[in-house]
Amino acid sequence: MISLILMGIDETKVLKIAIDGPAASGKGTVAKMLAQRLGIICLDTGALYRGITVHFMNSKVNLGHESEVNSALENLNLRVCHQGGSTLVFLNDKDITEHLHDIEVSATAYKVAVIPAVRKKVRSIQHEIACCQDLVCEGRDITSVVLPDAQFKFYLTASLEERARRRLNQERIQNPGITLEQVKQGIHERDVADMTREISPLVHVSDAVLIDASHISAVEVVQRMLDIINDKLKNL
Ligand code: C5P
Repeated sequence: MISLILMGIDETKVLKIAIDGPAASGKGTVAKMLAQRLGIICLDTGALYRGITVHFMNSKVNLGHESEVNSALENLNLRVCHQGGSTLVFLNDKDITEHLHDIEVSATAYKVAVIPAVRKKVRSIQHEIACCQDLVCEGRDITSVVLPDAQFKFYLTASLEERARRRLNQERIQNPGITLEQVKQGIHERDVADMTREISPLVHVSDAVLIDASHISAVEVVQRMLDIINDKLKNL
């Protein structure tokens, strides 16, 4: 377990490492590995949006109807657990983690994520988790809105071609006939929606270190992050 006292950083603060990046950039894998190397928890914030999406789908909520959305959010019973670097999501005490990446959930989550009341709800869950424990937190608005005070910030990206190629293998498990072009189109649509929405769009904030993972492995990305973290600590 790394501690801020050992790191020489203000021990009254928890350690926050924030990672943002577009869909399929590998930030989930990298965040998990980094958290494991540091012995701290990893929060996958996409899992929260996906969990709410499952809840809305179960309740057949019409996303365009504010009152339906608000009442579904009032009835939301969402809980997360951290296990082995993964974020487990429980809806009404049922573990729904294995459904978070179902095709329909993936195709709907970014539409749910533009709803202001949903973002407000997720922000409060995120702050509850991040307030009092060291963590690596990844998503789209973590460096900019959720944890602007994080000690370490990274923006992880890769070319659309490479992201689609990596995602294709995962998507073929559920949809064997899917083509690279279709995966690319899906990722592109999500990127545009995430980067152009009014509230908390995905942006590369100026104090986040940009890492392009098009030609390097997740292990190399994690090493680069650890080098940056260690360098900063040496210079304290
Ligand atoms: O990262 P992941 O693909 O699991 O996220 C699912 C969706 O949730 C994304 O497409 C994005 O629209 C939304 N999201 C977000 N802000 C975050 C994390 C995810 O808007 N911090």
